[in-house]
Amino acid sequence: MIILGIESSCDDTSAAVIKDCILLSNVIASQRVHEAYGGVVPELASRAHQQNIVPVVSEAIRQAGIDKKDIDAIAFTRGPGLPGSLHVGTAFSKGLALALNIPLVDVNHLHGHVLAHFIKEDENTVVPEFPFLCLLISGGNSQIIKVNSPYDMEIMGQTIDDAAGEAFDKCAKVMGLPYPGGPIIDQLAHEGDPKRFKFSRPHIEGYNYSFSGLKTSFLYTLRDQLKLNPNFIEENKASLAASLQKTIIDILMDKFGKAIKDTGIKTVAIAGGVSANSGVREAVQQYCERRGIKAFIPKRLFTTDNAAMIAVAGYFKFKNGETCDITAPPFARVVI
Ligand code: KG4
Repeated sequence: MIILGIESSCDDTSAAVIKDCILLSNVIASQRVHEAYGGVVPELASRAHQQNIVPVVSEAIRQAGIDKKDIDAIAFTRGPGLPGSLHVGTAFSKGLALALNIPLVDVNHLHGHVLAHFIKEDENTVVPEFPFLCLLISGGNSQIIKVNSPYDMEIMGQTIDDAAGEAFDKCAKVMGLPYPGGPIIDQLAHEGDPKRFKFSRPHIEGYNYSFSGLKTSFLYTLRDQLKLNPNFIEENKASLAASLQKTIIDILMDKFGKAIKDTGIKTVAIAGGVSANSGVREAVQQYCERRGIKAFIPKRLFTTDNAAMIAVAGYFKFKNGETCDITAPPFARVVI
């Protein structure tokens, strides 16, 4: 079964082709236009998707070595995401599905992140067994999900305010670093002292997360220190990054560890843009190694937004007989 996946939920235009979960191509056009603004500008994102989508899809089909007539179904990101961006991918997918007279499959972007672990680069790729616990950490979400099957995912906990990625990006922004700050903090953290600064940690019940207190305490530290030394940020960049990253990892691992213990599940995975973070990857790996738990750490390429994960999630739905109507609108928030 050959599936074409199309992703356009935020600022990456991506198209991928899979054959029974085996990856044939995965083309991603990242939008640089937002860097000057310190965050994604929705209207600019939609326009860039419009420019990119035709060449990106053509290239994915070309690299896969198939003809568009070979495609059995088109899987597209229906939401959540930026409305304008979603509209571009949704409208394009509908047009192509109509032209080729093939079914459309709507995919929840977050399911895509979780199911990225089922992208096979060859026949030997090992995939997680069900049920597994997934820590989904991205620019917009921080969730602990019990994945019972590709069709059955229970959210055990989630952020009540900011997401982990937002904590990275917003703190980086106040340090004067470009967007997105996550990867830069990750790099800087290698040279800094993670114990140098203490930032506040949340005390909330259950498996939920909160990152807004950390963000505020980071901001207050900078404000107070800058009064004493105007060069404070420049002189302490690496240790600020290392301490911030350590705090975010501790917060993430505290609840994820609790969920692992309480459920007794022996297979875990991480997903989403923040799972590219070297400290997060190491922390999960170490936690699991010590306890005999199998950890699935995705390739960095599959952590941020990509269409390969959308194609795989679509593959599972299509196999299950789930397609979507040509009139289906995109959803900015509602989870499908
Ligand atoms: O999954 P994603 O591409 O977008 C959403 O669907 O939200 O994640 C983007 C987020 C951004 O906040 C970015 O700063 C963060 O992932 N990120 C990282 C790293 N690479 C990407 N955060 C920390 N360390 C990284 N290495």
